[in-house]
Amino acid sequence: MTRVLYARPIKESLHLNLKSTVQKLKSNGVTPWLRVALVGDDPASQIYTKNKKKFIEGLGGKCDIVHIEEDITEQSFKAKIKSLSSEKGVHGFLIQLPLPKQLSHLDVGNLIPPSLDVDGLNSLNMGELLKGDMKGNFSCACTPKGIVTLLDYYDIPISGKNICIIGRSLIVGKPLSALLTNRSGTVTLCHSKTENLQYHTSNADIIIVAIGSPKFLKTHHLNPSKNQTIIDVGINKSKEGKLFGDVDFENVKESVAAITPVPGGVGPLTILSLAQNLLQAAEKTL
Ligand code: GUN
Repeated sequence: MTRVLYARPIKESLHLNLKSTVQKLKSNGVTPWLRVALVGDDPASQIYTKNKKKFIEGLGGKCDIVHIEEDITEQSFKAKIKSLSSEKGVHGFLIQLPLPKQLSHLDVGNLIPPSLDVDGLNSLNMGELLKGDMKGNFSCACTPKGIVTLLDYYDIPISGKNICIIGRSLIVGKPLSALLTNRSGTVTLCHSKTENLQYHTSNADIIIVAIGSPKFLKTHHLNPSKNQTIIDVGINKSKEGKLFGDVDFENVKESVAAITPVPGGVGPLTILSLAQNLLQAAEKTL
């Protein structure tokens, strides 16, 4: 019987703990404050940022979304980010991605001071991740951190396992490969130029798909004798507004041991990790 790995029980089990951390901070005069810069009016980004705000406020924290006009110049954008992120009392700052064309080449992580970088995209935070700071004294990219939270919650072993990641983005694939390597997984990082992808996926105990290509992973990639776990990072929207992932869920679900759904799988854990990073940043100011 295939296990469907939902985020909900994980969120429920950690919510109280996060709430009590916020209460402790508040009793010390610190209200954790996340500031989000949202450029333009991309509908998906509007929903994601609204969900982040709702979750942080639900814990008792503060979150403001600063809207920036779509056609802002690079120079004005950099000045704006500098001023927004230097306001006293802000503990975490993130620039919602993707950015409009004229800004899309920017190294956003390095526009933000490392201590506020709750997205884990600053070079310093990325470097700490690569060095394998197991104390977790830095902010780790949110989706990778959420995936490890999910694997741990469902007792899916990482150490010694063959893990195939498809997608080498800076926000998911690359930091995830470091995080899982630090946890002693044997990681293969595949991408659009990988030859014979099926060779790598069929050899994996865990397959993680993060390429933004709807229903990409199908049964021919799999090896049913390996009892594989499938983690779907994709969020794609059909013309009718239905959400689905990078995995063809209906096609593969009978051939695997465990699989995350879309929606309700990895997505909510990204926000949970963001809250964890924010609280850690706020605790450091005590
Ligand atoms: N857009 C989609 N996912 C993310 C994320 O984790 N962080 C930021 N900043 N933008 C995103």
